[in-house]
Amino acid sequence: MVKMNQFMEYSIFLLWCFLFINPSASAQIGIMGALNEEIKLLKDEMKLMKETKIAGRVFYSGKLEGKEIVLVEAGMGKVNAAITSQLLITKFKVEKIIFTGIAGGVSPDLGIGDLVIATKVAQHDYGSIGPQGFSPFRPGTLPEGKVNIESVYFKTDEKLLNIAMTVSRGITFDKLPEGTIVSEEVRIPKIVSGIIVTGDQFIVSKTKRKWLLETFNAMATEMEGGAVAQVCEINNVPFLLIRSISDLADEDAEINFEKFVNYAAKNSVLLVKKILSKI
Ligand code: ADE
Repeated sequence: MVKMNQFMEYSIFLLWCFLFINPSASAQIGIMGALNEEIKLLKDEMKLMKETKIAGRVFYSGKLEGKEIVLVEAGMGKVNAAITSQLLITKFKVEKIIFTGIAGGVSPDLGIGDLVIATKVAQHDYGSIGPQGFSPFRPGTLPEGKVNIESVYFKTDEKLLNIAMTVSRGITFDKLPEGTIVSEEVRIPKIVSGIIVTGDQFIVSKTKRKWLLETFNAMATEMEGGAVAQVCEINNVPFLLIRSISDLADEDAEINFEKFVNYAAKNSVLLVKKILSKI
């Protein structure tokens, strides 16, 4: 009888270990950023339970805002984003993915630190080049004939988007840092929803920025979201993309990126934490 009780206790202990230590045992939320600056605040605040290294990246499993999360720095660009999101889905069985980070502002209404929650995402560098120039196409399709621009977008998850918009009211942001390129030092960051475009290009050109606005009606441009959106759609995993503006994708973009990367990354993290607390 004593032996039987001991056996039961041991079995319960093993089950407990499996549930809490095995990264794929429970429903988890994947959180990705491209750069260390974009994820470090979340890593500092999460209750870290396990680190798993796969394909040169470290997946941090643990808890944040009461939710099981797997946090990872994907690296820059669409290939890194695709590898990492597929690993989150296949190896860690995440039930949804939230991407947090910074972007170049495209909409003239946006300034440093403002937040864009993506309604849809397009890969602005996928398409065909002919005598008339570049025509975007839906990633994964043959770029020929006339494109219907609506077909190039991947949608983000409506439910997550609604939660994000609802919780976005009432976040307290830091003051804009010194040397800001907008005049109002006490400006409260705007939070809007709209189109984000992705490409393997850091945009440092007013001309390209104008093209992104006119072609895609984009609000912001970055280098990963469209790839994660494609991976999530194929795997039927809900996806949310949040970006805060670090520069205006113009000729000063590199200087402004350096100055504002931390401020912008923090604004995005503040929203992600609020979302986590509500889902
Ligand atoms: N991420 C932040 N700023 C960017 C820019 N100007 N172009 C592309 N990705 C960015």
